[in-house]
Amino acid sequence: MEDRVEHERREFLKGGTAIAATAAAGVLLRAPAALAQQAKVKVGVMLPYTGTFAALGVAITNGFRLAIEERGGKPGGREIEYFTVDDESNPAKAPENANRLVQRDKVDVVIGTVHSGVAMGMAKVIREAGTLWINPNAGADEITGPLCAPNIFRSSFSNWQTTYALGKVLKARGHRNPVFITWKYAAGEQVLAAFNEGLKKEGGTLIRELFLPFPQVEFQALLTEIASIKPDAVVAFFAGAGAAKFLKDYQAAGLKGKIPLYGSGFLTEGVLEAVGDAAEGVETTLHYGDGLDTRKDNAFRLAYAKAYRMQPDVYAVQGYDAGQLLAVGLEAVKGDIGSKAPMIKAMETARIDSPRGAWTLSRAHNPVLDIYLRKAVGKQNKVMGIAWKALADPARGCRA
Ligand code: BEZ
Repeated sequence: MEDRVEHERREFLKGGTAIAATAAAGVLLRAPAALAQQAKVKVGVMLPYTGTFAALGVAITNGFRLAIEERGGKPGGREIEYFTVDDESNPAKAPENANRLVQRDKVDVVIGTVHSGVAMGMAKVIREAGTLWINPNAGADEITGPLCAPNIFRSSFSNWQTTYALGKVLKARGHRNPVFITWKYAAGEQVLAAFNEGLKKEGGTLIRELFLPFPQVEFQALLTEIASIKPDAVVAFFAGAGAAKFLKDYQAAGLKGKIPLYGSGFLTEGVLEAVGDAAEGVETTLHYGDGLDTRKDNAFRLAYAKAYRMQPDVYAVQGYDAGQLLAVGLEAVKGDIGSKAPMIKAMETARIDSPRGAWTLSRAHNPVLDIYLRKAVGKQNKVMGIAWKALADPARGCRA
């Protein structure tokens, strides 16, 4: 990945040198504004390409590039130049990685990331620099809460949105005393808190919170604890390779079929091929799923499968929508990404025609989402209905 980044960087610098040399020879006498129109829009992509969330980073990248290619590679008439960083889902490296894109490469817009802790590390750098940022996954509630800002957008979800509706689902299934199991980091803690908030409103009680450090996958001790507690349901938040391992371990521990398993949809998203029948019947809530059978989703799935020879998942959709949102902004200002105020205005009032269903942004720049109830059936996360219509994040603490 690093090699390609460096290559792209050298190509960019070579281009700049050539223009300067020609201009100096008096051949190219254009106004600076016209030159600016010709330069490529610099897109900094900060995503995980290694580790437990690697597949998520790839899907987001694929989706984003597809949206750009559907516009002939030139949204708003401007070509795109990519600067890519593998953030390894490592919060400790996040400020340095974000600075590479913002200060060194001087990108016009940052697309990233997956991990909530990494997003928190990016936020300080990006807020200070005022660079446009579209977050295509990381759910950290703060990003569209106390840290909300005119230059910060999300094309995905807040952690709160992904599990708040699950309390209602559990009540409908007759479960009142579940346990919650997750990684101990920002996203795990926030999805747990949102689930608990929804559950309490429905009269249920969370009887145990079970954590292991991110990105560990040694679930055995916690599964043994679950077997001894005997809750009426288990709710889990894991994603990527960690989710696949959890599903297999849950089955191997003999819990599948004994204690019903639920989760935010990340638990079963993008992993069904890998887990055999370990996920069969697991119900989850998420803002995307299989079998929506809409014109937009069918066209997207076909185009994605043709381009990448694989099926898209929610991460691909979020990347695609990040590309669509950026395109709305660029098209509104005819590619002049320096025209920040009208570009932001166009983006915040956009209606994104998404494979998940059309969405708009809240005042905190977070998508208002239909949350689907899904069930894992064979290799599909089949949409069974809408668990919550037009769920907006409460944006607690956002004063922008
Ligand atoms: C997060 O860290 O925000 C996150 C990671 C994977 C899936 C969903 C959320």
